[in-house]
Amino acid sequence: MKFLKFNEIDSTNNYMKENIASFENYDIVSAKIQTSGRGRRGNTWLSPEGMALFSFLLKPEKEFSIVEATKLPLLAGISTLSALKKIKDGDFSFKWTNDVFLNSKKLCGILIERVKNDFVVGIGINVANKIPNDIKNIAISMENDYDIDKLILKVVEEFSLYYKRFSEGKWQEIIEEINSYNFLKNKNIKVHIGDKVFEGIAKNIVEDGRIEIEMNGEIKLFSVGEIKIEKD
Ligand code: BTN
Repeated sequence: MKFLKFNEIDSTNNYMKENIASFENYDIVSAKIQTSGRGRRGNTWLSPEGMALFSFLLKPEKEFSIVEATKLPLLAGISTLSALKKIKDGDFSFKWTNDVFLNSKKLCGILIERVKNDFVVGIGINVANKIPNDIKNIAISMENDYDIDKLILKVVEEFSLYYKRFSEGKWQEIIEEINSYNFLKNKNIKVHIGDKVFEGIAKNIVEDGRIEIEMNGEIKLFSVGEIKIEKD
């Protein structure tokens, strides 16, 4: 397993995608600072020193269906949550589709990008960095000097264990675990689809990775990736 460490780079996801042929399953690229860190939906991901900033490669043995691919963010989320729980006590939760929360605030973001049948799993975790005042109400850092390289290895190792269970058909078990950390459950949320906004109450995450939202007494299912959810 290769573990490439940069002091500064534009984005670990970009680097891995640009050099994908040189990487094997579970190889890792990390950086102390990213100058063009990318978040989901084209957002910028601020990447100061003190964060764990890394990408690893997943090379599935067989072609992934769209449903399998939509389960990956959930798998990466629960693996990261589980790894972090092993090193720190606290109220961790999983915010569908793929954020890890601590004390109801975002601790970690995940950006998965597909290149043919390979997946670049990019993860950013607030480890030792201070959160800027203007986002302190929504984001949190562990503000702890953990050994970031060890933490990264732990997350990738945990992912490999969850992925093994996933490949062995144990998804139902994993989805139950994910639901036990479901941050959105019973919260009033707004769902943005294009320029339409729907309101409802979030319920469980179902087998195919979609989330149930109760709207006017009726349960509707929403897919990973097609909507944006905001807490009230
Ligand atoms: C999000 O919550 O919007 C996802 C953020 C993902 C950030 C990580 S940091 C390492 C990797 N490289 C990037 O440019 N982005 C991901």
